[in-house]
Amino acid sequence: MSDLAALLDSERIPRHVAIIMDGNGRWANARGLHRTAGHARGEPALFDIVHGALDLGIEWLTVYTFSTENWGRDPDEVAFLMEFNVDLLERRRDELDELGVRVIFIGDHEDERIPKAVLDRMRIAEEQTAGNTNLNMVYAFNYGGRTEIAAAARRIAEEAASGTLDPADVDEGTIAQRLYCPEMPDPDLVIRTSGEQRTSNYLLWEAAYSEYVFTPVLWPDFDQQELVRCIAEYQDRDRRYGGAIDGIFDDDPAQS
Ligand code: IPE
Ligand code: IPE
Ligand code: MG
Repeated sequence: MSDLAALLDSERIPRHVAIIMDGNGRWANARGLHRTAGHARGEPALFDIVHGALDLGIEWLTVYTFSTENWGRDPDEVAFLMEFNVDLLERRRDELDELGVRVIFIGDHEDERIPKAVLDRMRIAEEQTAGNTNLNMVYAFNYGGRTEIAAAARRIAEEAASGTLDPADVDEGTIAQRLYCPEMPDPDLVIRTSGEQRTSNYLLWEAAYSEYVFTPVLWPDFDQQELVRCIAEYQDRDRRYGGAIDGIFDDDPAQS
């Protein structure tokens, strides 16, 4: 990783990288395998990226593991994904802890379709790693951006109805503080693998000014080299946040 990282500007490493890990099914289909084999092969790719994020000094890594829309898939695939996530947490929890990774889950976890065993292991992983500071690894599990914003709106309505919040005081900060993980900074970079170019309901509020990088690489083939390439593309971008392009009016007589 160190050789690759040398290609990057170490002063402008994104603080928060969010990834839409897509293309597992197509990876498996191309090999005549069942879709679930693609999900299984996504695990080593994910852990390669965790190591890469640690080496690069990325502070927050958020990964989309199951969307609120993914319930619409074949029941066998849904059941596999639920089981797989329990299994993964069980097998990798100590390893993540030893690496100093803090695990955080975001999403709708009151959904009764999530097996209790999954919820229990989510809580155990969060508790065991709560004191770690090398990397915050956020699992977006049963996550949907619209569901997240709706949940914040519901809380605000409840607080207004009970008289603890004045509707006139509701601003962007009021909503941001009621999202799933208020301490999570907005992503600087959102990467989507597999060539699809859409958000699929990921971090709708948080990614308002994120840079998007789309790569054709299918998630099981994604590795640290591809991560560095995506960050290099990010570092080539000019983040403007709605402002003017730096220096464009410098020689404009109308401005002087
Ligand atoms: C992403 O891969 C993983 C999840 C959505 C859980 P897909 O399963 O969406 O793979 P494709 O897009 O069908 O290839
Ligand atoms: C987004 O991928 C969700 C995850 C990666 C977990 P999908 O494969 O579900 O998204 P669409 O259906 O292509 O938009
Ligand atoms: Mg997909």
